[in-house]
Amino acid sequence: MDESRIHVMIDEVSLQNRIRQLADEINHDYQGKELAMICVLKGGVMFMTDLAKYIQIPMTMDFMSVSSYGNQQVSTGIVKIMKDLDNSIENQHVLIVEDIMDTGRTLQYLKNLLADRNPASVKICTLLDKPHTRVVPVKADYTGFVIDDKFVLGYGLDYEQHYRNLPYIAYVE
Ligand code: IMP
Ligand code: MG
Repeated sequence: MDESRIHVMIDEVSLQNRIRQLADEINHDYQGKELAMICVLKGGVMFMTDLAKYIQIPMTMDFMSVSSYGNQQVSTGIVKIMKDLDNSIENQHVLIVEDIMDTGRTLQYLKNLLADRNPASVKICTLLDKPHTRVVPVKADYTGFVIDDKFVLGYGLDYEQHYRNLPYIAYVE
């Protein structure tokens, strides 16, 4: 991509400050419980690992990989499990950690799938939310930033598998 099209949207300090706030909320809400954090690969990986560093209650991590069919920037709505969880979530308090909620199809599918495995609870934590492009009525329990309908990359999010390593969120114009 022509890198002059890439502009910072949320800088590294703002990201980290907000993630610390989300962790504070989660620590408060799950007091006395154990948290099963489920990272949605690959986009959720930076967020999950940074968020986890500020979690002060007992917690476990597991990873799941899903993909919409095709590799386009447009969601098809059909979700395929590429890698399932390693461990059972039965009777556990599950927190799904995702990079971005766009149409909402991925998270709706995932939430229903995990809810069928008899967890104690299932909540969603998304770093970014693009509410204007939502097509299914799924809601996040924890949201880092609500953003405009722009294509974003960095901090886990990719453009054709690249730019996940940027420590900030950028948009493409
Ligand atoms: P949804 O199922 O439409 O909510 O799409 C969710 C997935 O699409 C996310 O987990 C991302 O992998 C991808 N996605 C949606 N919007 C963007 C974006 O602006 N940049 C990069 N990936 C995106
Ligand atoms: Mg993703």
